[in-house]
Amino acid sequence: MRNIDENNITQAVLDRMSACSNPRLKEVLGSLVRHLHDFAREVKLTEAEWMAGIEFLTATGHMCDDKRQEFILLSDTLGLSMLTVAMNNAKPEGVTESTVFGPFHVAGAPHVAQGADISAGATGEPLFVTARVTAPDGKPVVGADVDVWQADEDGLYDVQRPNLEHHQARAVLRTDAEGYLRFRTVLPVAYPVPTDGPVGKMLVATGRHPWRPAHIHFMVVATGFERLITHVFRDGDPYMDSDVVFGVRSSLIGQFDQHPAGTAPDGSAMGVPFHTLAFDFVLQPV
Ligand code: BEZ
Ligand code: FE
Repeated sequence: MRNIDENNITQAVLDRMSACSNPRLKEVLGSLVRHLHDFAREVKLTEAEWMAGIEFLTATGHMCDDKRQEFILLSDTLGLSMLTVAMNNAKPEGVTESTVFGPFHVAGAPHVAQGADISAGATGEPLFVTARVTAPDGKPVVGADVDVWQADEDGLYDVQRPNLEHHQARAVLRTDAEGYLRFRTVLPVAYPVPTDGPVGKMLVATGRHPWRPAHIHFMVVATGFERLITHVFRDGDPYMDSDVVFGVRSSLIGQFDQHPAGTAPDGSAMGVPFHTLAFDFVLQPV
């Protein structure tokens, strides 16, 4: 085919893929081509704008390495990650909702015993968490592996501190015979997503702030249940309705209670005020 113009080029590209033997690839790539072309026609994309887009994506790629994934951050901040999570994780009423995974999970975090202090030197106000994992009928899920990770009082994850050689504020715990999980950590605070790359420039250029409301990440894995990837958000956070990655769900807001110095839930004597959080996770059977 020759004499391609702005109207027949879309069909020409689709025709060129007609021999594709993978039907799903053909569907996904074909749809992407149609939407990309429609987008360019709709905004009447100039050549300078096309080049700016190419340079932006190139810079995004240059920002990626084994510790930093700027493309995922781009997907997160454009709402694509949460859209994909929402489409693929619809849950029946009463089952805990999923939200974005985020870039700060580390596989192979240390397994710790019930009651452990997972902060491991991370600074922040003390927080005692009691969580329970159950099936939709209320029966405890025993022996579930629960990955927990969060930022410290500076809003940084351990992996964002290049000189740190051990894990902080992240661990894996196993639910007990009643489905409970108890650990000590630090109070999560709101933090900005990394803004030193192209995504940060995009946020500034579009008049957006980079903040996520305070939260703790949880990943719950149990035999016979769907894996749950979620957060518990800290009630009262000013960014709850403007999370830069669109991850907040009302059902995931936990109540963090503040207590004066005294006896902590684990029986220890606290010389400083502390916080408690109780939250229940309900898993979807497979
Ligand atoms: C996070 O919560 O860790 C996160 C999620 C998306 C982008 C950046 C950070
Ligand atoms: Fe986070």
